[in-house]
Amino acid sequence: MANPYRVLVIDDEESILKLLHHELSTPKRIVDTADSAKAGREMLGRTRYDVVVSDIRLPDGNGLDLLVEFRGLYPDIEVVLITGHGNIDNAVEAMRVGAYDYVTKPFHLDRVELVIERAYQRVCLERENRSFRHSKQTVSHPKLVGNSAAIKHVRYLMDRVAPTEVAVLLTGESGVGKDVVAHVIQEQSSRAEKPFIIKNCATLQKELLRSEMFGHMRGSFTGATDNREGLMTFADTGTLFLDEIGELPLEVQGSLLRVLEAKTYRRVGEKNERQVDIRFLFATSRNLAEEVEAGRFNDALFHRINVFNIPIPSLASRKEDIPLLVEHFLGRMSPAMRHGRLTMTDKVMQCLMRYDWPGNIRELRNVLERSIILAEGGVITEQALPRELVEHGESGGGSGTFLLEKVEREHIQRTLNFFDGNRQRAAKALGIGRKTLYRKLEKYEESS
Ligand SMILES: Nc1ncnc2c1ncn2[C@@H]1O[C@H](COP(=O)(O)OP(=O)(O)OP(=O)(O)O)[C@@H](O)[C@H]1O
Ligand SMILES: [Mg+2]
Repeated sequence: MANPYRVLVIDDEESILKLLHHELSTPKRIVDTADSAKAGREMLGRTRYDVVVSDIRLPDGNGLDLLVEFRGLYPDIEVVLITGHGNIDNAVEAMRVGAYDYVTKPFHLDRVELVIERAYQRVCLERENRSFRHSKQTVSHPKLVGNSAAIKHVRYLMDRVAPTEVAVLLTGESGVGKDVVAHVIQEQSSRAEKPFIIKNCATLQKELLRSEMFGHMRGSFTGATDNREGLMTFADTGTLFLDEIGELPLEVQGSLLRVLEAKTYRRVGEKNERQVDIRFLFATSRNLAEEVEAGRFNDALFHRINVFNIPIPSLASRKEDIPLLVEHFLGRMSPAMRHGRLTMTDKVMQCLMRYDWPGNIRELRNVLERSIILAEGGVITEQALPRELVEHGESGGGSGTFLLEKVEREHIQRTLNFFDGNRQRAAKALGIGRKTLYRKLEKYEESS
């Protein structure tokens, strides 16, 4: 049998901890519990977990902050949040900052178990993708899906800048794909085989900030019992991706500037400067110019990291990419399903096209993953969508419909081409009946 996977439940209600531990522990799933943010943090530091389930409200912390912290520290786990009944704002926020899903209290055990199981499947998929990417025989990189003019421009900029040594600043709303782009750039660079260090600046520990970044010498402050290396040393000769650079505390911004300009840094408590050779990538969803304005970001540093900016457009501004993205995600999720390839009704696609996606591609991915759970016989219907998405779809205007038809038509044409014009196979791949396909093709002929 495969090794069991590990789940950590963080909640301050002892009854919930007991219940989940008791009911959800099986030979293939180990469930540990922690009754505070602090305890949870410690356990995560000691043991490798796959899925964390955390209450959003803890006596010593906020589940949303924990979520951001854990996702930064342990990028290959998924986090599920428990929210109070009817607290939809929290739930939405949770999804937006990267929760896999949420469950509301009081909950059904079945639902919790299903969500955990799904989250674990996702963890496996991600790990598989990652090891696949890292195996050298393939040149495959995490795919930046999309065919819109906007995304083509992003790809153009990436291809140009990747092989150079220039620092790159990736900007764009949360969930637009800044991480994806950073990975692709690194993999296309001449440093692809060198260390790739990723640090989310929001998770830098305040007390150890300078030490974490630059390292320290033994005895340089209380608690510094050993010499320690920092991020700069680890990234030397390779690439350092500083995510959420807008969160970097002002006090170390000057030192970072020095690394960028002089390629030197100093460990805490050390006199001599050291040389480093690092290619930098930065990302932020903040407007850094405004941060500079407000005195929260070093002006000189801003100019230094803003040499080559790749703005990544929001999903709302390139809705024509939605069908491709849907195809991509369903294709990836389908193998985990019993029904073969997943499909969706036209109405669902319509809703997806009309919605504005404030959480961008991450939100789209999450919506699709959740809808799979509710799909019947491999078909996703409106019932599987969150209500606000369907409602939004119904109040939408006519231009969406027009765009949708255009996109659908192109999609069908591509599928037909792929199957050398074989309508039967195309219809099957599209998940529609042969008659429906004929009807659509006739309609297109009439309107052209
Ligand atoms: N063009 C794309 N093609 C395929 N998947 C994408 C694309 N863009 C984003 N994704 C997926 O969407 C999710 C969010 O993307 P990512 O983490 O890169 O966003 P981000 O801009 O870094 O967000 P944040 O600001 O919250 O860190 C990821 O699962 C990623 O794989
Ligand atoms: Mg990111």
